[in-house]
Amino acid sequence: MGAPGAGKGTHAKDISKQFSIPHISTGDILREEVAKGSELGKTAKSYMDEGKLLPDDIIIEIIKGRLQEDDCKNGYLFDGFPRTLVQAQKLDTISRIESVIYLKCDDDILIKRLTGRRIAEDGRIYNIYFDPPPEGIKTYQRDDDNEETIRERLRIFYDTFTPIMEFYKKKNNFHEIRGDEDRTVVYENILSILKNIQKGR
Ligand code: AP5
Ligand code: MG
Repeated sequence: MGAPGAGKGTHAKDISKQFSIPHISTGDILREEVAKGSELGKTAKSYMDEGKLLPDDIIIEIIKGRLQEDDCKNGYLFDGFPRTLVQAQKLDTISRIESVIYLKCDDDILIKRLTGRRIAEDGRIYNIYFDPPPEGIKTYQRDDDNEETIRERLRIFYDTFTPIMEFYKKKNNFHEIRGDEDRTVVYENILSILKNIQKGR
């Protein structure tokens, strides 16, 4: 978990590879639907372009369907879900969440990261300020990575996050680390949390 730009997608891709579990990003699923031009994609786009959250029932249906796929049998990693207390409560009835990792970052860093984000065609996430794409690599910018939408996304994050954090803190599976340190340091800190969980199984 983390605010827009905290590094959820960046680290989730590495964790997914290292632990051989699927990376389930509701944002990526919705962007795929937008690209396909499906009915869901059309609905999603109207919310995403304004930085607003989609209704909980739509998101829960997507997750229920995704968890039934074969690759979820040995675990999975969510990115950008749950995003409301209702989503967290619903999730609790269909899945056992072993650990929640919150990447905490200051807003000035988040805004620079989001305005500087560039995505390659293979999904690799770059940043013109912190991790520039190599010459010759074609990249694009997300439609919601403009300053006005970024501010709305951040506002919604701060409005909705506290009850979700409290929900997981009560379950004793909530871990908070700094997301604004060097990428390798953040990843090492995530790994030490995940390895401790593996030891405790
Ligand atoms: P979503 O796609 O989830 O976007 P988000 O939460 O706004 O988060 P981002 O993807 O922007 O940030 P990130 O934390 O993944 O950062 P990244 O790793 O790319 O959601 C988009 C929209 O979909 C929502 O607004 C909503 O409309 C809808 N939606 C999605 N899920 C929903 C749900 N559950 N319920 C309802 N609606 C939903 O990194 C950012 C940049 O920083 C990159 O350029 C990266 O290179 C750089 N960076 C990362 N880490 C570091 C580091 N340590 N040092 C330097 N640079 C770094
Ligand atoms: Mg992301």
